[in-house]
Amino acid sequence: MIKKETVDKILETAQVEEVVGDFVHLKKRGTSMIGLCPFHGEKSPSFHVSPSKGIFKCFGCGKGGDSVRFIMEHEKYSYPEALKYIANKYNIEVEETEVTPEFKQEQDKRESLYIVSNYAAKFYADRMWNSEDGKTIGLSYFKERGFRDDIVQKFELGYSPDDWSALLEAAIKDGYQQNFLEDVGLVVKNDQGKIYDRFRGRVMFPIHNFTGRVIGFGGRTLKTDKAVPKYVNSPESDIYHKSNVLYGLFQAKKAIRDLDNCFLVEGYADVLSVQQAGVENVVASSGTSLTTEQIRLIGRFTKSITILYDGDAAGIKASLRGLDMILEEGLDVKVVLFPDGHDPDSYVQKLGASAFKTHIEKAKKDFIFFKTEILLKEAASDPIKRAGVIREVVESIAKIPDAIKASVFIRECSGLLQMEERILISELNKMRLAKAKKDSQQPYRNSEEEPPIPEEYLVEKPIETDEYQEKDMIRVLLIYGDQMVNWDGLTDTLIGPYIITNLSDVTFSNPLYQKVIQYYHDELENGYVPKEKDFIQHPDSAMASMAISMISSPYVLSDNWYSMHNITVPNEVERLKGTVMGAIFHLKKKKVTTMITAKQKLIQEEKDEANVIILMKEYLELKEVERYISNYLGSVITK
Ligand code: GTP
Ligand code: MN
Repeated sequence: MIKKETVDKILETAQVEEVVGDFVHLKKRGTSMIGLCPFHGEKSPSFHVSPSKGIFKCFGCGKGGDSVRFIMEHEKYSYPEALKYIANKYNIEVEETEVTPEFKQEQDKRESLYIVSNYAAKFYADRMWNSEDGKTIGLSYFKERGFRDDIVQKFELGYSPDDWSALLEAAIKDGYQQNFLEDVGLVVKNDQGKIYDRFRGRVMFPIHNFTGRVIGFGGRTLKTDKAVPKYVNSPESDIYHKSNVLYGLFQAKKAIRDLDNCFLVEGYADVLSVQQAGVENVVASSGTSLTTEQIRLIGRFTKSITILYDGDAAGIKASLRGLDMILEEGLDVKVVLFPDGHDPDSYVQKLGASAFKTHIEKAKKDFIFFKTEILLKEAASDPIKRAGVIREVVESIAKIPDAIKASVFIRECSGLLQMEERILISELNKMRLAKAKKDSQQPYRNSEEEPPIPEEYLVEKPIETDEYQEKDMIRVLLIYGDQMVNWDGLTDTLIGPYIITNLSDVTFSNPLYQKVIQYYHDELENGYVPKEKDFIQHPDSAMASMAISMISSPYVLSDNWYSMHNITVPNEVERLKGTVMGAIFHLKKKKVTTMITAKQKLIQEEKDEANVIILMKEYLELKEVERYISNYLGSVITK
């Protein structure tokens, strides 16, 4: 864990306009700065940054937060990753809390594995650009295949000398430990205990994780000998887990987000060629079939995947089932086939970038239709096979979590399958029901996932809710909690503690608001009055983003917002007392009214006369409280 002091220092040092400014072109506008929102496509700026508050907020898509939140959202980093990014930007030394020696050793070891991997990547690249063999064998191979220097450099490609221990010897000479090289599989120990380089005489493709660190390698042979495996890859290690890595993601992630689509290809060479054609949103699953982790990784950047296939029929059929997984994760899948035994690499190298792009636009099909067409063609007119096709297609559609989307596909497919829509729908519902039953039998898949939404949340919410009053109360607490108010012209009181004391008899319906109250309460017990920034920077992201949208009212961020929208703002600050009391008592009144309605219902339903009398008494008491609050609101607060 990063030490609290370091976290504080990072948060204090970070200037939101500088952190955001590395990614967004900002212009000054009054006290805030504005630019085009990086999180949704827009032509006129609605993305505001407030240097004084240290926050950003987009009034287009609603995203908002502090510097750390920005980096987390933009780079898809975890909280500690984002902190480290900012620390690095401001040259702040990151101190971590004392951890168990085992944990520390573990971390040091991982760091060492990253370091030797990075060393190896530099070594292979150096050998390719600077040694005789490297140039005549490695570099010239890439040139022959049509790869430009800038692409070779962008992917840090290299060449491993055809020698049993070139890397090992160089690494030892430069002070790296052999055991770390062994751990990442760069060197191998055979049964006789002899140590040698894994990669020899191959062109090297370093594999980066999505933050850009080298975690493994693919090495392609230059021999045409069929007995030699075409690719040798790094084995799994503490830093390289094949199932959650996508080749090229680091180089592609910005384009994937900007274009809101990810092209998925099979091989290293495809990634390079497609990138070289100026299509930068491309990644490869590198030979293995796609995993759920890989899909989720893409899902952090876009909800739309386009798969570029080479046109081998058997291969396509085999992978159809795997693609249902993508649907299940809620992503849109499109498919593009390449003709005549071409793969994306050979197509773009032979026909050029613009033909390649045109082909994609022309040939891309929604996966469901693609699957339907392929299976139908195969089934031809065999009625039994056709029934199987219908089942398989509906099975895929049933995986789509979005019901509206699914029904659109059902409609379209009913045409293709020549099958009545309502029959497909009833088939779909059967499958959904079966799935729901299965899901409810097993709790959740792992503890990191959110528990399923209970049934009662799915039914429509009653219109009678206290959301408005609760929200206003929390807003007042967040904004004014650490300020003083003078109640009686004599004594100043802190607003936050006053509110908390007065709400001791109130439970919030919204669990998030209740969490805020609990947090505030706990901090007060510790003798600390939470400030706006404690909420903005709260590690609980739900709480932080809620706080941010409340705090960053347009009024705060943009001076002319209100005049633009012709709204007059009641000056809350000047009428602070009324604002605070108003929020408390409006909330209480709402709560009491709700209780009264509930009581009325009980009275109507109660059969036993004696009980009715008791309920009536309670009812009248509540009415009395309601009247008291109403009077109070009427007399003291003109709101
Ligand atoms: P080129 O043949 O140079 O165009 O390479 P490619 O990257 O296009 O590879 P190909 O389409 O033949 O295979 C797709 C991916 O499967 C490769 O990028 C590798 O990740 C993987 N792969 C292919 N052959 C082998 C192999 O022999 N062993 C292993 N482990 N992986 C392989
Ligand atoms: Mn290829």
